[in-house]
Amino acid sequence: MTRAPRILVFDSGLGGLTVFRALAAQRPDADYVYAADDLGFPYGPKSEAEVTALVLAALAGLIADHAPDCVVIACNTASTLVLPVLRARWPEIPFVGTVPAIKPAAELSQSRLISVLATPGTVARDYTRDLIEKFAQDCEVTLVGSKYLASLAEAHMRGESVADEEIAREIAPCFVSHDARRTDAIVLACTHYPLLQDFFARLAPWPLRWIDPAPAIARRADHVISDRFPTHAVRDADFVFVFTSGAEPAPRLLKMIERLREKIGRERASA
Ligand code: DGL
Repeated sequence: MTRAPRILVFDSGLGGLTVFRALAAQRPDADYVYAADDLGFPYGPKSEAEVTALVLAALAGLIADHAPDCVVIACNTASTLVLPVLRARWPEIPFVGTVPAIKPAAELSQSRLISVLATPGTVARDYTRDLIEKFAQDCEVTLVGSKYLASLAEAHMRGESVADEEIAREIAPCFVSHDARRTDAIVLACTHYPLLQDFFARLAPWPLRWIDPAPAIARRADHVISDRFPTHAVRDADFVFVFTSGAEPAPRLLKMIERLREKIGRERASA
């Protein structure tokens, strides 16, 4: 293969940009289509049937339009539900998902008190319960399904002001303390949440590890495509941003996308 791989990064909104950032650093030679299903946002409070239908409808159009070599579902709410459906529907395309990083949290926790901060959908999934059962049996795991954080992250990305108290209220249940032990790891199990990392670090009642799985997802995607597309330097690769509504990105977002483009360009030039 001499052409660049085309990777479709999909999320309900802008959260998947946290995964895209890591992917672009891992594979600066790839072409990217970033797709935000703003028509369906937010997925978190919706029923499993609704999320499945939204993801299938959005991907049918995106796959037809862009013919990706790999699709990264940069959304926990969707990945914990629809990966088997997507793989059955498009068996020729490798899908890489984003699921709660419970295993790494359990591995590094000293206090054995860990929290999973996610959307209401993700905390309710059998998939999430199974991960806890499999990898964190000897931990006390607090599941926190936040109703508002993903929307607050979107507002922050649009340049709107977000009050500290709103964020503090959403993350407060993650901080558990008893018997001289306290939570020492929080899994960021929604791709929107690392967009609020500065707030989290500032508002946390005590310092602990915030686990963002983006670099691991990027390595996984690279692994999945590397046989067909070994890394190589390309100069004319492309980055396309799509909203499913057809809307144009807001000025602040455009600036951020431009910065990402430049960063990818620099990384390509030095690849
Ligand atoms: N970014 C998505 C996730 O990782 C969810 C945001 C939403 O649509 O509620 O779960």
